Amino acid sequence: MMTTKVATTFDEIAAREERFQLATYKKMPIAAARGAGAWVVTSEGARYLDLYGGHAVCATGHCHPRVVEAIRRQAGEMLFYSNLVYSEVRARAAERLVGCAPAPLAKAFFCNSGTEANENAMRMARMRTGRERVITFTGSFHGRTADAISATFLGKYRDIGRPNVPGHLCAEFGSIESVAALADETVAAVMLEPIQSMAGVREAAPEFFAALRKLCDERGMLLVFDEVQTGVGRTGEWFFAGSVAAGGVVPDVVTLAKALGSGVPVGACLTSDAVASSIKENDLGTTFGGGMLAMAAVAATLEAVEADGMLENARLLEAYLRVRLKELPRVARVRGRGLLLGVEFKDEIAAKVHKALLDERIITGTSSDARVLRLLPPLCLLREEADLFVGALKDVLEGS
Ligand SMILES: Cc1ncc(COP(=O)(O)O)c(C=O)c1O
Repeated sequence: MMTTKVATTFDEIAAREERFQLATYKKMPIAAARGAGAWVVTSEGARYLDLYGGHAVCATGHCHPRVVEAIRRQAGEMLFYSNLVYSEVRARAAERLVGCAPAPLAKAFFCNSGTEANENAMRMARMRTGRERVITFTGSFHGRTADAISATFLGKYRDIGRPNVPGHLCAEFGSIESVAALADETVAAVMLEPIQSMAGVREAAPEFFAALRKLCDERGMLLVFDEVQTGVGRTGEWFFAGSVAAGGVVPDVVTLAKALGSGVPVGACLTSDAVASSIKENDLGTTFGGGMLAMAAVAATLEAVEADGMLENARLLEAYLRVRLKELPRVARVRGRGLLLGVEFKDEIAAKVHKALLDERIITGTSSDARVLRLLPPLCLLREEADLFVGALKDVLEGS
Protein backbone atom coordinates (compact mmCIF):
# COMPACT_ATOMS: atom_id res chain seq x y z
CA MET A 1 0.00 0.00 0.00
CA MET A 2 1.28 3.48 -0.86
CA THR A 3 1.79 5.72 2.18
CA THR A 4 2.04 9.48 1.85
CA LYS A 5 4.95 11.08 3.66
CA VAL A 6 4.00 13.75 6.19
CA ALA A 7 5.55 17.08 5.26
CA THR A 8 6.89 18.94 8.28
CA THR A 9 8.63 22.13 7.18
CA PHE A 10 6.80 25.10 5.71
CA ASP A 11 8.70 24.80 2.43
CA GLU A 12 7.75 21.14 2.00
CA ILE A 13 4.09 21.78 2.85
CA ALA A 14 3.81 24.80 0.56
CA ALA A 15 5.57 23.06 -2.34
CA ARG A 16 3.28 20.04 -2.06
CA GLU A 17 0.08 22.14 -1.86
CA GLU A 18 1.15 24.19 -4.84
CA ARG A 19 1.90 21.08 -6.83
CA PHE A 20 -1.31 19.20 -6.02
CA GLN A 21 -3.95 21.85 -5.27
CA LEU A 22 -5.49 24.35 -7.68
CA ALA A 23 -4.04 27.77 -6.97
CA THR A 24 -7.36 29.54 -6.36
CA TYR A 25 -6.34 31.55 -3.29
CA LYS A 26 -3.54 33.99 -2.61
CA LYS A 27 -2.17 32.44 0.58
CA MET A 28 -0.30 33.89 3.51
CA PRO A 29 3.23 32.43 3.83
CA ILE A 30 2.45 30.25 6.85
CA ALA A 31 1.15 26.71 7.36
CA ALA A 32 -1.34 26.56 10.23
CA ALA A 33 -0.83 23.47 12.37
CA ARG A 34 -2.66 24.04 15.64
CA GLY A 35 -4.79 26.66 17.32
CA ALA A 36 -6.13 27.70 20.71
CA GLY A 37 -8.36 30.70 21.42
CA ALA A 38 -7.22 33.60 19.29
CA TRP A 39 -3.86 32.00 18.49
CA VAL A 40 -2.64 29.98 15.53
CA VAL A 41 0.57 27.95 15.76
CA THR A 42 2.40 27.27 12.50
CA SER A 43 4.21 24.17 11.30
CA GLU A 44 7.43 25.85 12.43
CA GLY A 45 6.06 26.54 15.92
CA ALA A 46 5.54 30.31 15.46
CA ARG A 47 2.51 31.82 17.23
CA TYR A 48 0.23 34.22 15.34
CA LEU A 49 -2.54 36.34 16.84
CA ASP A 50 -5.55 35.63 14.66
CA LEU A 51 -7.87 38.59 14.10
CA TYR A 52 -9.35 37.05 10.98
CA GLY A 53 -10.67 33.80 12.46
CA GLY A 54 -10.17 31.71 9.33
CA HIS A 55 -12.52 33.87 7.22
CA ALA A 56 -14.93 34.69 10.10
CA VAL A 57 -15.45 31.03 10.93
CA CYS A 58 -13.67 30.54 14.26
CA ALA A 59 -15.96 32.69 16.39
CA THR A 60 -15.60 30.46 19.44
CA GLY A 61 -11.83 30.60 19.06
CA HIS A 62 -9.63 27.84 17.75
CA CYS A 63 -10.36 24.46 19.33
CA HIS A 64 -12.82 25.62 21.98
CA PRO A 65 -12.74 22.74 24.51
CA ARG A 66 -16.54 22.41 24.65
CA VAL A 67 -16.79 22.18 20.87
CA VAL A 68 -13.85 19.79 20.54
CA GLU A 69 -15.26 17.51 23.23
CA ALA A 70 -18.75 17.47 21.64
CA ILE A 71 -17.29 16.61 18.21
CA ARG A 72 -15.07 13.87 19.70
CA ARG A 73 -18.00 12.33 21.55
CA GLN A 74 -20.28 12.48 18.52
CA ALA A 75 -17.62 11.01 16.24
CA GLY A 76 -17.46 7.97 18.52
CA GLU A 77 -21.25 7.54 18.54
CA MET A 78 -22.30 8.26 14.97
CA LEU A 79 -20.66 10.39 12.32
CA PHE A 80 -23.56 10.65 9.97
CA TYR A 81 -27.02 9.69 9.04
CA SER A 82 -29.22 11.74 6.74
CA ASN A 83 -32.57 13.46 7.32
CA LEU A 84 -34.36 10.19 6.55
CA VAL A 85 -34.05 9.37 10.25
CA TYR A 86 -34.68 11.44 13.37
CA SER A 87 -31.70 12.32 15.52
CA GLU A 88 -31.42 13.57 19.10
CA VAL A 89 -28.47 15.84 18.35
CA ARG A 90 -30.19 17.33 15.29
CA ALA A 91 -33.35 18.00 17.30
CA ARG A 92 -31.27 19.64 20.04
CA ALA A 93 -29.24 21.79 17.62
CA ALA A 94 -32.38 22.97 15.81
CA GLU A 95 -34.17 23.82 19.05
CA ARG A 96 -31.17 25.69 20.40
CA LEU A 97 -30.64 27.64 17.16
CA VAL A 98 -34.30 28.62 16.88
CA GLY A 99 -34.21 29.53 20.59
CA CYS A 100 -31.53 32.14 19.86
CA ALA A 101 -33.51 33.69 16.99
CA PRO A 102 -36.04 36.51 17.25
CA ALA A 103 -39.73 35.74 16.60
CA PRO A 104 -41.27 34.87 14.20
CA LEU A 105 -38.21 32.85 13.06
CA ALA A 106 -39.20 29.39 14.21
CA LYS A 107 -37.88 26.70 11.87
CA ALA A 108 -34.40 25.68 10.70
CA PHE A 109 -33.27 24.06 7.46
CA PHE A 110 -29.71 22.73 7.61
CA CYS A 111 -27.29 22.62 4.69
CA ASN A 112 -23.51 22.81 4.32
CA SER A 113 -22.33 26.30 3.43
CA GLY A 114 -23.27 29.94 3.07
CA THR A 115 -23.84 29.83 -0.65
CA GLU A 116 -26.15 26.84 -0.27
CA ALA A 117 -28.11 28.58 2.49
CA ASN A 118 -28.64 31.57 0.19
CA GLU A 119 -29.70 29.38 -2.73
CA ASN A 120 -32.27 27.71 -0.50
CA ALA A 121 -33.50 31.04 0.88
CA MET A 122 -34.15 32.30 -2.66
CA ARG A 123 -35.88 29.05 -3.52
CA MET A 124 -38.10 29.34 -0.43
CA ALA A 125 -39.06 32.87 -1.47
CA ARG A 126 -39.95 31.72 -4.98
CA MET A 127 -42.05 28.88 -3.57
CA ARG A 128 -43.82 31.12 -1.11
CA THR A 129 -44.63 33.92 -3.58
CA GLY A 130 -44.90 32.10 -6.91
CA ARG A 131 -42.61 34.80 -8.31
CA GLU A 132 -39.08 34.46 -9.66
CA ARG A 133 -36.96 37.57 -9.44
CA VAL A 134 -34.69 38.57 -6.55
CA ILE A 135 -33.36 42.01 -5.70
CA THR A 136 -29.87 42.22 -4.19
CA PHE A 137 -27.48 45.15 -3.83
CA THR A 138 -24.41 46.94 -5.07
CA GLY A 139 -21.43 45.63 -3.09
CA SER A 140 -23.13 42.32 -2.25
CA PHE A 141 -21.43 38.94 -1.90
CA HIS A 142 -23.68 35.89 -1.49
CA GLY A 143 -21.51 32.93 -2.54
CA ARG A 144 -20.18 31.14 -5.58
CA THR A 145 -22.81 28.61 -6.68
CA ALA A 146 -24.88 29.56 -9.74
CA ASP A 147 -27.85 31.38 -8.19
CA ALA A 148 -25.87 32.93 -5.33
CA ILE A 149 -23.10 34.25 -7.58
CA SER A 150 -25.75 35.70 -9.89
CA ALA A 151 -27.13 37.52 -6.82
CA THR A 152 -23.64 38.91 -6.15
CA PHE A 153 -22.85 42.40 -7.40
CA LEU A 154 -19.43 42.93 -5.84
CA GLY A 155 -16.54 43.33 -8.24
CA LYS A 156 -16.08 40.64 -10.87
CA TYR A 157 -17.55 37.70 -8.95
CA ARG A 158 -20.74 37.68 -11.02
CA ASP A 159 -18.71 37.36 -14.23
CA ILE A 160 -16.95 34.26 -12.88
CA GLY A 161 -20.39 32.62 -12.74
CA ARG A 162 -21.39 33.25 -16.38
CA PRO A 163 -23.82 32.36 -17.78
CA ASN A 164 -25.69 33.90 -14.85
CA VAL A 165 -29.05 32.74 -13.59
CA PRO A 166 -31.67 35.17 -14.95
CA GLY A 167 -33.99 37.22 -12.76
CA HIS A 168 -31.43 38.98 -10.55
CA LEU A 169 -31.87 42.71 -10.07
CA CYS A 170 -29.47 45.12 -8.41
CA ALA A 171 -30.49 48.01 -6.14
CA GLU A 172 -28.28 50.63 -4.50
CA PHE A 173 -27.27 49.51 -0.97
CA GLY A 174 -28.93 51.83 1.54
CA SER A 175 -31.35 53.43 -0.95
CA ILE A 176 -34.99 52.46 -0.44
CA GLU A 177 -35.97 54.44 -3.56
CA SER A 178 -33.81 52.24 -5.77
CA VAL A 179 -35.42 49.10 -4.28
CA ALA A 180 -38.91 50.55 -4.73
CA ALA A 181 -38.16 51.29 -8.39
CA LEU A 182 -37.43 47.59 -9.05
CA ALA A 183 -40.01 46.00 -6.74
CA ASP A 184 -42.86 44.94 -9.00
CA GLU A 185 -45.16 41.89 -8.92
CA THR A 186 -42.41 39.67 -10.42
CA VAL A 187 -40.10 40.02 -7.39
CA ALA A 188 -40.05 37.18 -4.85
CA ALA A 189 -37.46 38.53 -2.43
CA VAL A 190 -35.11 41.28 -1.39
CA MET A 191 -31.91 39.73 -0.04
CA LEU A 192 -29.04 41.58 1.64
CA GLU A 193 -26.09 41.27 3.98
CA PRO A 194 -27.12 43.65 6.74
CA ILE A 195 -23.44 44.62 7.00
CA GLN A 196 -21.57 44.17 3.73
CA SER A 197 -18.36 42.61 4.95
CA MET A 198 -16.43 41.82 1.75
CA ALA A 199 -17.32 45.23 0.32
CA GLY A 200 -15.43 46.83 3.21
CA VAL A 201 -17.80 46.55 6.21
CA ARG A 202 -20.46 48.85 4.71
CA GLU A 203 -23.44 49.61 6.90
CA ALA A 204 -26.95 50.90 6.32
CA ALA A 205 -29.15 52.97 8.64
CA PRO A 206 -31.81 51.31 10.86
CA GLU A 207 -34.39 53.35 8.95
CA PHE A 208 -33.35 51.60 5.73
CA PHE A 209 -34.14 48.19 7.23
CA ALA A 210 -37.48 49.46 8.58
CA ALA A 211 -38.38 50.88 5.16
CA LEU A 212 -37.37 47.61 3.49
CA ARG A 213 -39.59 45.61 5.83
CA LYS A 214 -42.53 47.89 5.05
CA LEU A 215 -41.93 47.77 1.30
CA CYS A 216 -41.64 43.97 1.30
CA ASP A 217 -44.92 43.65 3.23
CA GLU A 218 -46.72 46.08 0.94
CA ARG A 219 -45.52 44.46 -2.28
CA GLY A 220 -45.70 40.80 -1.26
CA MET A 221 -41.93 40.15 -1.30
CA LEU A 222 -39.93 38.19 1.27
CA LEU A 223 -37.09 39.90 3.10
CA VAL A 224 -33.95 37.77 3.45
CA PHE A 225 -30.94 38.67 5.62
CA ASP A 226 -27.73 36.94 4.57
CA GLU A 227 -26.20 36.60 8.05
CA VAL A 228 -23.45 34.23 6.95
CA GLN A 229 -20.96 36.69 8.45
CA THR A 230 -23.08 38.69 10.90
CA GLY A 231 -24.86 35.72 12.52
CA VAL A 232 -24.04 33.59 15.58
CA GLY A 233 -22.89 36.44 17.80
CA ARG A 234 -20.51 38.25 15.46
CA THR A 235 -22.18 41.65 15.99
CA GLY A 236 -22.52 41.23 19.75
CA GLU A 237 -26.08 39.91 19.34
CA TRP A 238 -27.06 36.41 18.30
CA PHE A 239 -28.26 37.85 15.00
CA PHE A 240 -28.38 41.24 13.30
CA ALA A 241 -32.07 40.43 12.69
CA GLY A 242 -34.22 42.03 15.37
CA SER A 243 -31.39 44.23 16.69
CA VAL A 244 -31.50 47.96 17.32
CA ALA A 245 -29.12 48.41 14.36
CA ALA A 246 -31.72 46.65 12.20
CA GLY A 247 -34.41 49.03 13.44
CA GLY A 248 -35.87 45.99 15.21
CA VAL A 249 -36.65 44.43 11.81
CA VAL A 250 -36.90 40.66 11.59
CA PRO A 251 -36.71 39.29 8.02
CA ASP A 252 -38.67 36.31 6.70
CA VAL A 253 -35.52 34.27 6.24
CA VAL A 254 -32.06 34.47 7.84
CA THR A 255 -29.18 32.53 6.29
CA LEU A 256 -26.20 31.32 8.32
CA ALA A 257 -22.91 29.44 7.91
CA LYS A 258 -19.30 30.43 8.84
CA ALA A 259 -19.30 30.51 12.68
CA LEU A 260 -22.28 28.18 13.08
CA GLY A 261 -20.18 25.02 13.43
CA SER A 262 -16.92 26.57 14.70
CA GLY A 263 -15.22 25.22 11.56
CA VAL A 264 -17.20 22.07 10.86
CA PRO A 265 -18.93 22.89 7.54
CA VAL A 266 -22.59 23.70 8.14
CA GLY A 267 -25.12 26.25 6.89
CA ALA A 268 -28.71 26.97 7.78
CA CYS A 269 -31.81 28.93 6.85
CA LEU A 270 -34.10 30.14 9.62
CA THR A 271 -37.63 31.05 8.69
CA SER A 272 -41.11 31.66 10.06
CA ASP A 273 -43.93 29.15 10.39
CA ALA A 274 -45.79 31.14 7.73
CA VAL A 275 -43.03 30.66 5.12
CA ALA A 276 -42.44 27.08 6.29
CA SER A 277 -46.09 26.27 5.52
CA SER A 278 -45.30 26.81 1.80
CA ILE A 279 -42.46 24.28 1.80
CA LYS A 280 -43.39 20.66 1.24
CA GLU A 281 -41.53 17.35 1.39
CA ASN A 282 -38.80 17.16 -1.24
CA ASP A 283 -38.91 20.89 -2.03
CA LEU A 284 -35.51 21.37 -0.39
CA GLY A 285 -32.81 18.86 0.44
CA THR A 286 -29.15 17.96 0.69
CA THR A 287 -27.46 14.72 1.66
CA PHE A 288 -25.11 16.12 4.28
CA GLY A 289 -27.33 18.84 5.78
CA GLY A 290 -28.24 18.06 9.39
CA GLY A 291 -25.61 15.31 9.73
CA MET A 292 -24.78 14.34 13.30
CA LEU A 293 -21.20 15.57 13.45
CA ALA A 294 -22.17 19.00 12.16
CA MET A 295 -25.15 19.15 14.51
CA ALA A 296 -22.97 18.34 17.51
CA ALA A 297 -20.72 21.22 16.45
CA VAL A 298 -23.71 23.59 16.11
CA ALA A 299 -25.15 22.73 19.51
CA ALA A 300 -21.76 23.04 21.21
CA THR A 301 -20.94 26.30 19.40
CA LEU A 302 -24.15 27.94 20.59
CA GLU A 303 -23.58 26.62 24.11
CA ALA A 304 -20.01 27.92 24.14
CA VAL A 305 -21.02 31.40 22.96
CA GLU A 306 -23.61 31.58 25.72
CA ALA A 307 -21.65 29.91 28.53
CA ASP A 308 -18.58 32.08 27.98
CA GLY A 309 -20.50 35.35 27.66
CA MET A 310 -19.10 35.92 24.17
CA LEU A 311 -21.90 38.24 23.04
CA GLU A 312 -21.13 40.61 25.86
CA ASN A 313 -17.41 40.25 25.25
CA ALA A 314 -17.88 41.16 21.57
CA ARG A 315 -19.78 44.31 22.57
CA LEU A 316 -17.20 45.31 25.19
CA LEU A 317 -14.26 44.73 22.89
CA GLU A 318 -15.97 46.64 20.08
CA ALA A 319 -16.34 49.67 22.35
CA TYR A 320 -12.74 49.32 23.54
CA LEU A 321 -11.26 48.87 20.07
CA ARG A 322 -13.23 51.81 18.68
CA VAL A 323 -11.70 54.14 21.27
CA ARG A 324 -8.17 52.80 20.90
CA LEU A 325 -8.20 52.65 17.09
CA LYS A 326 -9.50 56.17 16.65
CA GLU A 327 -6.44 57.48 18.53
CA LEU A 328 -4.12 56.10 15.86
CA PRO A 329 -2.61 58.16 13.03
CA ARG A 330 -4.06 57.66 9.53
CA VAL A 331 -7.27 56.03 10.84
CA ALA A 332 -10.31 57.84 9.39
CA ARG A 333 -12.99 55.86 11.19
CA VAL A 334 -14.01 52.46 12.45
CA ARG A 335 -16.92 50.74 10.72
CA GLY A 336 -19.04 47.75 11.72
CA ARG A 337 -20.48 46.18 14.80
CA GLY A 338 -19.34 43.82 17.53
CA LEU A 339 -16.31 41.96 16.26
CA LEU A 340 -16.97 42.56 12.57
CA LEU A 341 -14.96 45.74 12.30
CA GLY A 342 -13.45 47.67 9.40
CA VAL A 343 -10.59 50.00 10.20
CA GLU A 344 -10.86 52.67 7.51
CA PHE A 345 -7.61 54.48 6.77
CA LYS A 346 -7.36 57.88 5.17
CA ASP A 347 -5.47 56.33 2.23
CA GLU A 348 -5.50 53.04 0.33
CA ILE A 349 -2.97 51.31 2.57
CA ALA A 350 -4.94 48.30 3.88
CA ALA A 351 -2.96 45.69 1.90
CA LYS A 352 0.36 47.19 3.00
CA VAL A 353 -0.75 47.32 6.64
CA HIS A 354 -2.05 43.74 6.44
CA LYS A 355 1.35 42.56 5.26
CA ALA A 356 3.28 44.57 7.83
CA LEU A 357 1.08 43.15 10.62
CA LEU A 358 1.64 39.65 9.29
CA ASP A 359 5.37 40.28 9.59
CA GLU A 360 4.62 41.03 13.27
CA ARG A 361 2.69 37.73 13.47
CA ILE A 362 -0.78 39.23 13.50
CA ILE A 363 -3.38 37.97 11.02
CA THR A 364 -5.98 40.48 9.79
CA GLY A 365 -8.13 40.72 6.66
CA THR A 366 -8.45 43.06 3.73
CA SER A 367 -11.61 43.74 1.71
CA SER A 368 -12.58 45.04 -1.71
CA ASP A 369 -12.15 48.57 -0.34
CA ALA A 370 -8.41 49.31 -0.44
CA ARG A 371 -8.76 51.67 2.55
CA VAL A 372 -10.33 49.09 4.89
CA LEU A 373 -8.57 46.53 7.09
CA ARG A 374 -11.08 43.92 8.25
CA LEU A 375 -11.13 42.38 11.72
CA LEU A 376 -13.12 39.19 12.32
CA PRO A 377 -11.49 37.82 15.47
CA PRO A 378 -12.83 35.11 17.75
CA LEU A 379 -15.58 36.43 20.01
CA CYS A 380 -13.51 35.31 23.00
CA LEU A 381 -10.72 37.78 22.16
CA LEU A 382 -9.09 39.14 25.31
CA ARG A 383 -8.44 42.79 26.00
CA GLU A 384 -4.67 42.08 26.23
CA GLU A 385 -4.82 40.52 22.77
CA ALA A 386 -6.66 43.60 21.45
CA ASP A 387 -3.92 45.75 23.05
CA LEU A 388 -1.24 43.70 21.34
CA PHE A 389 -2.90 44.36 17.99
CA VAL A 390 -3.42 48.08 18.60
CA GLY A 391 0.23 48.48 19.69
CA ALA A 392 1.49 46.69 16.57
CA LEU A 393 -0.84 48.67 14.32
CA LYS A 394 0.34 51.92 15.89
CA ASP A 395 3.97 51.00 15.18
CA VAL A 396 3.14 50.02 11.60
CA LEU A 397 1.22 53.26 10.97
CA GLU A 398 3.87 55.45 12.56
CA GLY A 399 6.58 53.72 10.56
CA SER A 400 4.76 53.86 7.23
C1 LIG B 1 -22.10 37.33 3.38
C2 LIG B 1 -21.70 36.03 2.76
N1 LIG B 1 -22.63 35.25 2.20
C3 LIG B 1 -22.32 34.07 1.65
C4 LIG B 1 -21.03 33.59 1.64
C5 LIG B 1 -20.71 32.28 1.03
O1 LIG B 1 -20.45 31.34 2.03
P1 LIG B 1 -19.68 29.98 1.71
O2 LIG B 1 -18.29 30.35 1.33
O3 LIG B 1 -19.78 29.20 2.98
O4 LIG B 1 -20.43 29.35 0.59
C6 LIG B 1 -20.02 34.37 2.23
C7 LIG B 1 -18.62 33.90 2.23
O5 LIG B 1 -17.68 34.62 2.42
C8 LIG B 1 -20.37 35.62 2.80
O6 LIG B 1 -19.43 36.40 3.37
